[in-house]
Amino acid sequence: MAIRTIKKDVYNVGAIDWDRELFDELIPLPEGTSYNSFVVVGSEKTALIDTVDPEKKEEFFRNLDELDLERIDYIVSNHAEQDHSGLIGEVLEIYPEARIVTNEKCKGFLIDLLLLEEKSFDVVDEGDTLSLGDKTLEFIFAPWVHWPETMFTYLREDKILFSGDFLGSHLALSNTFSNDDAQTYLAAKRYYAEIMMPFRTLIKKHLKRLEDYEIDMVCSVHGPVYKDPAFIINHYKDWVCDKVANKVLIPYVSMHGSTLKVVEYLTDELTNRGIEVLPINMTSADLGKLAVELVDAATIVLAGSTVLMGPHPKMLYTAAMINALRPKTKHISIITSFGWASQSTKTLKSLLATTQAQWLETIDYKGYPKPEVLEKVKALADNILEKHKELNLF
Ligand code: FEO
Repeated sequence: MAIRTIKKDVYNVGAIDWDRELFDELIPLPEGTSYNSFVVVGSEKTALIDTVDPEKKEEFFRNLDELDLERIDYIVSNHAEQDHSGLIGEVLEIYPEARIVTNEKCKGFLIDLLLLEEKSFDVVDEGDTLSLGDKTLEFIFAPWVHWPETMFTYLREDKILFSGDFLGSHLALSNTFSNDDAQTYLAAKRYYAEIMMPFRTLIKKHLKRLEDYEIDMVCSVHGPVYKDPAFIINHYKDWVCDKVANKVLIPYVSMHGSTLKVVEYLTDELTNRGIEVLPINMTSADLGKLAVELVDAATIVLAGSTVLMGPHPKMLYTAAMINALRPKTKHISIITSFGWASQSTKTLKSLLATTQAQWLETIDYKGYPKPEVLEKVKALADNILEKHKELNLF
C-alpha cells in the first residue's frame, strides 16, 4: 500500500495485511488488518510514530523510501507490542542518528522484546513535549490500552491524536479515512470487545482525560483514520459505561440435542417476556462473535453438554474467555446436561472466578430435559425478567 497523506506533512507509511486471519494466534480477523505508521515532518525535525509488523517490512520500507526523508530524528513508540515496534531496530540501522522516544516502562519492554540498546532511548514523562520546529508532540500516558506501557502522542498544531491501538479497528482498507460508518462501527466494536474491554474502567478515565484536548483527527495504528473523532469516542463512551442492554446471551454447545432443547426453550421463554436473546453455538462461532455480544448483554447463560464428567472443551474455552474479557454483564447462570454424572457447573464456575456478575440459580439435568427441568428453565426466565426490571431495562 502506498503512502497516504493525512494532512500537510503528516503521512501514513504503514502497511495493510489483507490476508491475516488471526492475531495473537487467537483473535480472528475476518477483514484482515492494517499496521499504521505515521511520519510527522516539522520545520526542523522529523518523527516516525510507531512502525509495522515485521511481516510487512518490505512494504513499510518501500513507503519510507518513497517519502524520501533526509532524516528521521525521532522514533516515537506509543506501544511496545511487536506489530508496532518490531521494525524499530531496522529503522535505526538506516537512520542511526534517530532517538527512540518513549516512556520508561515502554523502554524496558522494547529492550526485553527487541534487544534494543539502552543508549538509543530518550525517555519522556507524562505531559512532556517534543518540538519538531513548527510542530509539537505532546505525550499523554494512557496505561492499559491494552498493555501497561501504552501512551498517546498528540500533535498540537494539527490537533491529531496518535492513539496507538486505542480506538482502532482490524480492518484492511485502501481508504485513508473512515468513510463507511456501519463497517467501521462493527469492526471497531469487535476490536474493542476483543482487546480493550478488560480495561473498561481505565478507558473511562482516559476518555475523560481526552476531553481536555481539541482533537480534529484520531490516528490509531489499526484501521482507518477518523476525521470525525466524535464518532469513535462517543461509541467508546457508550461501550465502557455501566449501562447494559435488555439482552441475554446464551453461548452453548449441544452434543446430542439435550442442551439445544433447553436453549430453544429458554430462548422462547425470554422472548415471550420481552427480552432480546442471542443463542451462540460455540461449536462454530468465533471469539469475535461472542466478544462483541458481551459488550452490553445484561445476562449470560452458559449452556453445555458434559464430556467425561467435565464441560465440553468449547465451553471451557468460552468460560475462560468470558472471564478474561471481563464484560459489564450483571447476571450469570449455567445450564448443564449430562449422561451419568457431571462436574461441569463447578468447573465452569471456577473458570469464571473474577466475574463481577451476580450468580443466578444454575440448572443441571440428566439426559433429555423432562418437564420438571423445563419448569426450572421457566423459573430462571422469570428470575431474569425480574432482574432486568430491577435494572430498569424495560
Ligand atoms: Fe496492535 Fe497491542 O498491538
